[in-house]
Amino acid sequence: MTSTFLDAVNRKNKNHIPVLFMRQAGRYLPEYMKLKDVHSFRTRTHTPELMTEITLQPMRRYKMDAAIMFSDILTCLEYMGAAFDFTGEGPKLATAGVSTLKEIHKLDVKDMSFVYEGIKKITAELTDRPLVGFVGAPFTLCSYIIEGGTSKEFLKTKNFMYSSPKDFHKAMEILAESVGNYLAEQMRTGVEAVQVFDSWVGFLNEDDYRTYLLPHMKNLVSLARKGGKPIILYSQPASHLLPALKEVGADVYSIDWRMKLADAAKVLGDNVAIQGNLDPAVTTLEWSEARPFVDRVLEDAKKAGIRDRYIFNVGHGVNPTTKPETVGSIVEYVHSK
Ligand code: CP3
Repeated sequence: MTSTFLDAVNRKNKNHIPVLFMRQAGRYLPEYMKLKDVHSFRTRTHTPELMTEITLQPMRRYKMDAAIMFSDILTCLEYMGAAFDFTGEGPKLATAGVSTLKEIHKLDVKDMSFVYEGIKKITAELTDRPLVGFVGAPFTLCSYIIEGGTSKEFLKTKNFMYSSPKDFHKAMEILAESVGNYLAEQMRTGVEAVQVFDSWVGFLNEDDYRTYLLPHMKNLVSLARKGGKPIILYSQPASHLLPALKEVGADVYSIDWRMKLADAAKVLGDNVAIQGNLDPAVTTLEWSEARPFVDRVLEDAKKAGIRDRYIFNVGHGVNPTTKPETVGSIVEYVHSK
């Protein structure tokens, strides 16, 4: 398969700038909402046919350069002793807290066979563009287990990390090993690249990242490497962590919108690709209003000298109020540049 997305990942893209949207399959698409009305989140993520259909929905509508499998970073936690419920406003863990975290056990990657079935179905249908797999990073997963859902300050998580470093490291070790092996298995089944989501890690400072997370992130990457496919690391809100993130050894760094692409490129060096940078709020605008913001990101990519190794993407997930027409216009426009 020739793929501008994979060419950019491999830092040798001579074609159009590839586009991928974080959370491109989901709540802003009317065709997704129809399935959401009929099937629970668990059914949508545990049924290979539904996983396939939802993954392919944005691919039919738009010329995005890669698909991202429909699943969730919390899905595997059910098989490690922390099952989330997705029925309400956001994910909820009834037994949230440090005691649940202390009891989690390593993931048996065979338990995720429904995901591998989905990957096989998606790749059988999607023959012209690559599929991206993913997991949540240990810190972000740990924060969900301790806080029970999305948090504003991550106080309980930090309290545990600072007060019980030994137990914290043990949990990180289990999480990193589990998701690292799970990524390798996704790669063996057919995804062409993977993304590690560390959505809340920017609430830590750089010293803490190095002390509490870096060794586990390196271990995660070395286990995932056994699958032989490129690794994208997404961290947020994390401009201040870039020097430490570089040491994780990912192939692509997905950055948020708080930093200039040229500044990120300076820290990260020439040997990695860069993804992201559009503020997701822009996707909630009409196309005419959104265009100057897209231009600014493209201009910055040019100034940064990363044209051959840049993937256009949002700096965090698109929103339920994202306008499907604007997403389409952004894809066409970036491709024309
Ligand atoms: O298109 C894609 O990107 C693939 C699907 C995908 C989902 N979640 C589906 C989903 C991906 C890649 C994720 C990753 C994910 N899940 C992250 C990392 C990315 C990020 O946004 O920071 C995180 C932190 C989660 C945890 C999670 N799952 C939350 C906080 C929520 C509820 C709030 C929300 O954003 O809706 C979910 C549920 C969820 N996962 C939905 C979707 C489409 C919405 C619920 C639904 O459709 O019923």
